[in-house]
Amino acid sequence: MIWYPYEQMKTMKPPYEIVDAEGVYLYTKDGGSMIDSVSSWWSVIHGYKHPVLTRAIKEQADVFSHVMLGGLTHKTVQKLSDKLADWLPGDLDYCFFSDSGSVAVEVALKMALQFNVNRKDPRKTVLSLTHSYHGDTFKTMEVGDDEDYHFAFENKQGVIHIPTEIPALEEAFEKHHDELNCFIVEPLLQGAGGMRMYDLAFLERARQLCDQYDVLLIFDEVATGFGRTGYRFVADEVLPDILVLGKALTGGYIGHAVTVAGEKVYRGFYGDDPALALMHGPTFMGNALACSAALASIELFEGQDYMAKIHRITEIMRREMADFSSPKVKEVRIMGGCICLEVCDRADLVGYQEFAAKRGVFARPFLNCLYAMPPYVIAEEELVKVLSAMKAWFD
Ligand SMILES: Cc1ncc(COP(=O)(O)O)c(C=O)c1O
Repeated sequence: MIWYPYEQMKTMKPPYEIVDAEGVYLYTKDGGSMIDSVSSWWSVIHGYKHPVLTRAIKEQADVFSHVMLGGLTHKTVQKLSDKLADWLPGDLDYCFFSDSGSVAVEVALKMALQFNVNRKDPRKTVLSLTHSYHGDTFKTMEVGDDEDYHFAFENKQGVIHIPTEIPALEEAFEKHHDELNCFIVEPLLQGAGGMRMYDLAFLERARQLCDQYDVLLIFDEVATGFGRTGYRFVADEVLPDILVLGKALTGGYIGHAVTVAGEKVYRGFYGDDPALALMHGPTFMGNALACSAALASIELFEGQDYMAKIHRITEIMRREMADFSSPKVKEVRIMGGCICLEVCDRADLVGYQEFAAKRGVFARPFLNCLYAMPPYVIAEEELVKVLSAMKAWFD
């Protein structure tokens, strides 16, 4: 039987069985349909069954689905790494592929740690944010700060957490710069830790301090990348040393992720000594089906002005929420293609999923967040329907 994620199996409600999906709609076994307001964990930016993505995957499958990157390579992964190097800002040119966001963050942290070992300056401490979430593998749990997910993982070592406030950031660098290896952030939008939004000025100051003290800056854009914050990548605004992308990389069609290093990091591994090499190699890295989906996804994103679609979503969210307030809602936060209604008491969200489903919307509130991150192809009336369900819950 299936062991479902984040669930107490004894008490969980049966999940909706999906028999078909197209555009923003999920079709259920009982003949119903729901708008997916959360884009299958924030990944399906073009909607389901997009003909361009489907065709790309089918065409690749007719050639081959997968070959390993150990001792082998192929055109599709080469094309994708060239495209990313070209498309991503600055010198973020070196693409290490893996099969999930968590693994790609692991790779980023491993790169940062070994980068310092290779240059014989083995600083071990990772600076991270309070309420951060970077995945469910062990190192990502360690640098994360999310007791709701990882309460069983105690005694964190080698990590310091700070809030997204410049004085706390400056103090951390002042006190700990000798031991700091890297600073990892979900830039501008902390997702699973509670849809918390913060200012670009914090990241600009972080970049200055990382330069001043020679500390690597890692952006985990697994959730924020591909426009979710209203920037294509936050890395376009503040350049990190290592960038991690996942989720929407393949338009959400096949699990894949990439850790992209800049020149300085790459050079730290490059040399005649085999001991300097990065010893990592997920079996499915550079999977040909995933790479073909990613190339098609980027083509759509570029060719169909997705940033304009995202700005339109922000406008509609702002307009529809302008007059909304409820004593149960502490704050309404909107950024790019994301809206979060933070409630005072998380008990007030119990039952929302069923309430929304009856109104034709699939939602999945967590912690004290009622949120939506819809596919970017959502039509105005569909988005209004999603937002209306959110508001109606508090009537
Ligand atoms: C910021 C961030 N990093 C990493 C991950 C982990 O990605 P995956 O679930 O693909 O392992 C997530 C997943 O939600 C995420 O939001």
